[in-house]
Amino acid sequence: MASNKAAFFDKTGIPLRIGDAPIPQPGPDDIVVKNYAVAINPVDFYQWSTGAMIKNYPAVLGHDVAGEVYDVGSSVTKFKKGDRVAGQAWGFKTGQPQDGAFALYSNIPSKNSASLPESIAFKDAAVLPLAIDTAATGLFLAESLDLPWPEENSKPIEKTIIVYGASSSVGSMAVQLAKAAGARVIGVASKVNADFVKEAGADLALDYRDPNVIEDAVKSIDKSSFVGIYDAIGNEASHKIVVPIFERIGGKSRYATTRATPDNLPKDVSRYRIVGMGEHVFPIWKTFVADALQSGKLKCLPRPEVVGTGLESLQTGVERMGKGVSATKLVIEL
Ligand SMILES: NC(=O)c1ccc[n+]([C@@H]2O[C@H](COP(=O)([O-])OP(=O)(O)OC[C@H]3O[C@@H](n4cnc5c(N)ncnc54)[C@H](OP(=O)(O)O)[C@@H]3O)[C@@H](O)[C@H]2O)c1
Repeated sequence: MASNKAAFFDKTGIPLRIGDAPIPQPGPDDIVVKNYAVAINPVDFYQWSTGAMIKNYPAVLGHDVAGEVYDVGSSVTKFKKGDRVAGQAWGFKTGQPQDGAFALYSNIPSKNSASLPESIAFKDAAVLPLAIDTAATGLFLAESLDLPWPEENSKPIEKTIIVYGASSSVGSMAVQLAKAAGARVIGVASKVNADFVKEAGADLALDYRDPNVIEDAVKSIDKSSFVGIYDAIGNEASHKIVVPIFERIGGKSRYATTRATPDNLPKDVSRYRIVGMGEHVFPIWKTFVADALQSGKLKCLPRPEVVGTGLESLQTGVERMGKGVSATKLVIEL
């Protein structure tokens, strides 16, 4: 008889508590996943250390799951018990413990999930879901960068974007998805990660610590094809680089950010603050993710660093996340 356990967040300042939890009952459009790997994101450390945006205590944190379907909701036809899947858990939004990722079993929206080929290990797939959703939100919505949604056979398009923070989990996924949509992509990351940024698909990798980075970015862009900047970092450091790039290129363009928007963005630049969770991301899961994983067009990047096994390792992982990572994603195997 299956039984569930979760890593409960009771309050800030104390470690996550491993305790018994009911096996989730799937909502009509949901699936219950028996998790084999979960990934840790910056927001998990942020919530654990501050309590920000926690709706109810005890909470179950976490967004990224990979595992096997254990149960399906009454309206779900896409999956059956035993299927290998990865997807995003929506506990951040619903506030329901059964919807958090940091558990042996999680309830997740079936439309925010994709089948995994046998060739992809759960620990590799766990790096994908939140990054896919956050990248897709900033790239493909009419109000964000408005690129065409990627297809398995997308043709090159006359559009160029800059991905700032291209070695991060979200940034490298933005590089992959923008390339899959046919765009030309200039990635900005540290020099040591230039090869990684190119592996994700960038046509050019620039170093954000190089004093010439702004000039080099502007020179590399044909103004007529420039769409805008996907800023995966969205802080003062990124603003110091993206604002002058917009100023130097001039004209109408677009800015999408995972965090803050600079106050001094030129007025012709539209601005969009990304929320990487919601129904707006369902198209990419419906038409692209599973096939692109199968064909190899979508890669599980950045590569995971497995920091431990079992729910007990989550605390170590969350605290590690607080120290920051470079071109990797912290994963716990269950
Ligand atoms: N709005 C949303 O819905 C949403 C969703 C997901 C994430 N986020 C936020 O988006 C940000 C990125 O998330 P993530 O998971 O992708 O982070 P991550 O992978 O943990 O980010 C680490 C990377 O950030 C890069 N970086 C740090 N400072 C930088 C700077 N000044 N310039 C350029 N790159 C810099 C590092 O690059 P180097 O090692 O190459 O220096 C490193 O590879 C986080 O703040 C996260 O909280 C928001």
